[in-house]
Amino acid sequence: MVRGLFITLEGGEGSGKSTQARRLHATLEALGHEVTVTREPGGSPGAEAIRTLLVTGDVDRWDGMTEALLLFAARRDHVERTIKPALDSGHIVVCDRFIDSTMAYQGYGHDLGRETVEQLSGMVLGEFKPDLTLILDLPVEDGLKRAVSRGGDEQRYEDMDVAFHHRLRDGFLDIAKREPARCRVIDSSGSEEDVAVRLKAAVLPVLGSTHG
Ligand code: TMP
Repeated sequence: MVRGLFITLEGGEGSGKSTQARRLHATLEALGHEVTVTREPGGSPGAEAIRTLLVTGDVDRWDGMTEALLLFAARRDHVERTIKPALDSGHIVVCDRFIDSTMAYQGYGHDLGRETVEQLSGMVLGEFKPDLTLILDLPVEDGLKRAVSRGGDEQRYEDMDVAFHHRLRDGFLDIAKREPARCRVIDSSGSEEDVAVRLKAAVLPVLGSTHG
């Protein structure tokens, strides 16, 4: 059986990933592909329960290592129960956040360091990685403005100081520089439509080469 394609969307707060994940879903389905859209933290019942622990409560509820362990526990469940079965049945999986969020938020943002995140990833996921990662990039202040206007209960990360958000934007850009074959940085400024066009332009060549 042809294995599907694993695409992840990444970026800081208010970068527009969730909206773009929905739009990409529609675009890929219109092209005739079967698509599973999912998210992290979450994407399986066990991982969604862990999500609540991560995104609510006091800013200093967990330290960086504890967060990383919770995230990898959730990710393990999500990969085994949702992502791999969908890929095995030939679906394109579009995931709103994945391992690069842990590298950016915990590794760079909380100063856990690249090596620790890489070690955990090796232990929990082995060689499993996205085929394509789209990093939605936006100036920190613009992203936070968008995120605050969105409101909601899941504010714990939005409430972290601005220096944290700068570390994680720089982290995402550094990840992209280190893995240019897998990662594309997408300018997330402008209208939803503008960003959707940029994303589609990044995805189509990869579809053509691997997924017909
Ligand atoms: P979301 O707002 O994109 O749904 O993500 C929820 C929060 O979880 C977001 O503020 C970033 C954070 N997060 C991490 O800190 N590390 C991770 O590995 C993931 C997947 C999310």
